[in-house]
Amino acid sequence: MKIIKLITPALCIVLTLSVCVAPAQIKKKVVAKKKMTTAVTKAPPPPPFATDADIADGKALISKSDCLACHKTEDKLVGPAYTAVAAKYPHDQNSVNTLTDKVISGGSGAWGPVPMAPHPAISKADANKMIKYILTLNAKNLTTSTK
Ligand code: HEC
Repeated sequence: MKIIKLITPALCIVLTLSVCVAPAQIKKKVVAKKKMTTAVTKAPPPPPFATDADIADGKALISKSDCLACHKTEDKLVGPAYTAVAAKYPHDQNSVNTLTDKVISGGSGAWGPVPMAPHPAISKADANKMIKYILTLNAKNLTTSTK
């Protein structure tokens, strides 16, 4: 009798534990599975705002314009390094629009008190391509392109 009195509560505890733990474990597995599928579907998309042709055009347009008198790719000159600009702004159409306006109208305050001269002669389409080229100049692209 004494043994049964001891075993019954022990069994009860084991039973309640297994009932509680089992669903918790199943839940964990389901969550882990969900996380994995979202990780797979969220592979980094290619830049939606720029095509390879835009970027190549932008590079050519910049070398033909006066930009390089004040900007270098990797170092600060009068204006910020293009790699610093690429690191500062998200690589999306919104940044392209804002920075396009800045190149055409000029302005100051984002990097310091020195203003950028306006470029009213540059078309919006051309300025767009220049910015697309600049924004893709993050450190990663740079190391692959200099090799
Ligand atoms: C007279 C010198 C000068 C020239 C020429 C010049 N820039 Fe700039 N640029 C600057 C300065 C100075 C700044 C920083 C302005 C600021 O702090 O807001 C700047 C900033 C920028 C920025 C970042 C703007 C921001 O708001 O973060 C971009 C992009 C840029 N220039 C692109 C160009 C392009 C493209 C050209 C050629 C069409 C060009 N620049 C020509 C001086 C110049």
